[in-house]
Amino acid sequence: MKVLIATDKPFAKVAVDGIRKEIEAAGYELALLEKYTEKARLLDAVKDVNAIIIRSDSIDAEVFEAAKELKIVVRAGAGYDNVDLNAATAHHVCVMNTPGQNANAVAELALGLMVYAVRNFYNGTSGTELMGKKLGIHAYGNVGRNVARIAKGFGMEIYAYDAFCPEEVIEKDGVKAVASVEELYKTCDVVSLHIPATPETKNSINYALLKETPEGVLLVNTARKEVINEDELIRLMNERSDFRYISDIMPAAHANFEELFAGRYFSTPKKMGAQTAEANINAGIAAAKQIVGYLKEGIDKFRVN
Ligand code: 3PG
Repeated sequence: MKVLIATDKPFAKVAVDGIRKEIEAAGYELALLEKYTEKARLLDAVKDVNAIIIRSDSIDAEVFEAAKELKIVVRAGAGYDNVDLNAATAHHVCVMNTPGQNANAVAELALGLMVYAVRNFYNGTSGTELMGKKLGIHAYGNVGRNVARIAKGFGMEIYAYDAFCPEEVIEKDGVKAVASVEELYKTCDVVSLHIPATPETKNSINYALLKETPEGVLLVNTARKEVINEDELIRLMNERSDFRYISDIMPAAHANFEELFAGRYFSTPKKMGAQTAEANINAGIAAAKQIVGYLKEGIDKFRVN
């Protein structure tokens, strides 16, 4: 069996070494395709492989068509909006993710971005503190829970909204569960996004929702750029000079944001949330183990299609 790591944004070397160990211990061969940029290189690399480990790499119908021997794709991470699940199913390929494995890394970055923003991007002027501020966690999954845990240490008052997570699960963590997404945005000084990109969530963070936020609000996005309605966010930020936006996923209109909202907008140049050695090791090795478990024993616990 041949396993390919196809990561345009590479894992830390220590994670690749760990993956190699798992794959070779199973008697399989490992191939590595990093920083490939051009899709043609991916299409060529997948031709003879049985399994692929990816990150945010786009695996569309053309890739499934080219990968004639493919049995499984594991997204080493949480969000699998980059994989065409219908095409996977049509080609009888199993798709999995590795939920929770990089959640702490993303949560730490969310808090890091909050500190950076409320301290005025370290420009030497007086900022504010997070202690005592109301933090709204939008979606209480693996990342949201880690954000809550860390934010408690900062002394924040924590609220969460999750359409699928029962109220008692949220409240047992000492977090206030709010009844609606509107209430979360109306209530909180800082809102941290942790929703996946799905047909329902795309563009859902819109003008109507954001216009109700309190003065001086900070919106933090370590989720996906697609969940933001960028045109409406620009409209709102034009109208409200108190509104701040900080993101780990560069908006399509990044240049506009930079020009129009200097001092209250920042984006990392490349998504950094899961870019830690620990997260790479956790997610990468989990992916390798899931591939071996699936190919040898048919275990499909984290299957998403
Ligand atoms: C995820 O969905 O797991 C995160 O967004 C991390 O994505 P990445 O592996 O591309 O950094």
